[in-house]
Amino acid sequence: MGEQVSSRGTWSGRLGFVLAAAGSAVGLGNLWKFPYITYENGGGAFVLVYLAAIVMVGLPVMMAEVLLGRRTQRNPVGAFRILSQGKRGHRLWPGVGVLGVISGFVILSYYSVVAGWTVRYIGLAISGRLEAMAVHPEALQTFFSGFLGSGAQQVLYHTIFMGATVGIVILGVQKGIERATKVLMPLLFLILIALVAYSVTTPGFGEALTFLFRPNFSQLSRGAVLEALGHSFFTLSLGMGAMLTYGSYMKRDNSIQKAAILITFLDTLIALMACVVMFSVIKSFDFEVTKSAVILFTTLPTVFAKLPGGSLVSALFYLLVAFAALTSTISLLEVVSSYAIDELGWGRRRASLTMGGAIWLFGALSAVSLGANDTLSSINVIGRSSTAGVFGTLDYLASNWFLPVGGFFIALFTGWAMNPRESRETLEEGHGPMRAYSFWHFLIRFAAPLAIGAIIVSVILGVEYN
Ligand code: PFF
Repeated sequence: MGEQVSSRGTWSGRLGFVLAAAGSAVGLGNLWKFPYITYENGGGAFVLVYLAAIVMVGLPVMMAEVLLGRRTQRNPVGAFRILSQGKRGHRLWPGVGVLGVISGFVILSYYSVVAGWTVRYIGLAISGRLEAMAVHPEALQTFFSGFLGSGAQQVLYHTIFMGATVGIVILGVQKGIERATKVLMPLLFLILIALVAYSVTTPGFGEALTFLFRPNFSQLSRGAVLEALGHSFFTLSLGMGAMLTYGSYMKRDNSIQKAAILITFLDTLIALMACVVMFSVIKSFDFEVTKSAVILFTTLPTVFAKLPGGSLVSALFYLLVAFAALTSTISLLEVVSSYAIDELGWGRRRASLTMGGAIWLFGALSAVSLGANDTLSSINVIGRSSTAGVFGTLDYLASNWFLPVGGFFIALFTGWAMNPRESRETLEEGHGPMRAYSFWHFLIRFAAPLAIGAIIVSVILGVEYN
């Protein structure tokens, strides 16, 4: 498959890839966005539609991305360049990779700012300040608005988060990313299990399960269906070549199908567990949740404070969110760095420092643009269509346009431009004869592009969420 790029890394084995990719998938999307959109969309029925989107669209597109990466052992731009050689539109296809690299750049710039908030809250929880403030819910609101309005603090925590991200990516695929995710992912899972066990003891647990798993279809709007679909992209890190890039470090003796199923399963499980924890504590006290998008930073601490051991529980909780975010930010930076390494011939050090620095600067600009007034309207940060402020605009562009458009072309390319012989060959490496190949091929040719096309059209026509 073309010339080899010598300084590229590989995962040490199957577990390395699965944990790194699951680390990319599990992030603020699972622990913050999924619970609040599920809350807003009335629970059970939305969860079912989301699960359908994950299985029918998310999983096949993930397999497509990983296969493009592993076949070419390249970054998203290089992968499309190599595979489109001699095909119609061969000059245009690498543009899908370029869009992916730009998306990685843009998403990381604001994602790191939000991730920085969790670092601030870990400190608040440990020092006991969070519990003290939580006695008066308004105090937390005021604190949160003041925090967002302070450019200096926003930049400070964003800097800490970007620093940690660059520090890991610079060490390389195996020594940096794989090692970090092998520590962080099991810890994350343990903390989450502890929190779920804890939530079982809260009075709201039963009600939370009912809300989450008993579908009430009268609650479901057309916008909710589209939102579930869009979120399946964001949460699985699809549409911008993150899975493609991680797949490019995967050895040929591992099965793509098995790995993709496991990653998707873990991502979904963790999102549902996060919902159980959050809804149990919220339902335990008849809280009126007005701004569900900021549950994580305003309502939840108030609730934690009422529970025994509240400071410890909240410290663990924010640590969990921070870990999850970190394993996602490293994948975002890796997409951009791998482009510089493969296409511009840079060394890893130069690539991660320069690209990380540029993203830091871009993010710092959006961080200082977060005015306190604008806060609650632009705070629909991860994935919703709010255009208030630089922050909201970036997120709006990335989630509603870049990822679905990227995913659409990835599906079209793998389903139609690529020869089925090639895709089958790559999927069967390390797997053996693939029984589900025809089903996968059907999904990637028809189901995925149609469903994604529906999102894009709805965005163009301006269908409102809810
Ligand atoms: N999947 C991450 C989340 O759910 O928070 C967000 C994300 C990471 C999106 C990496 C895209 C990406 F390439």
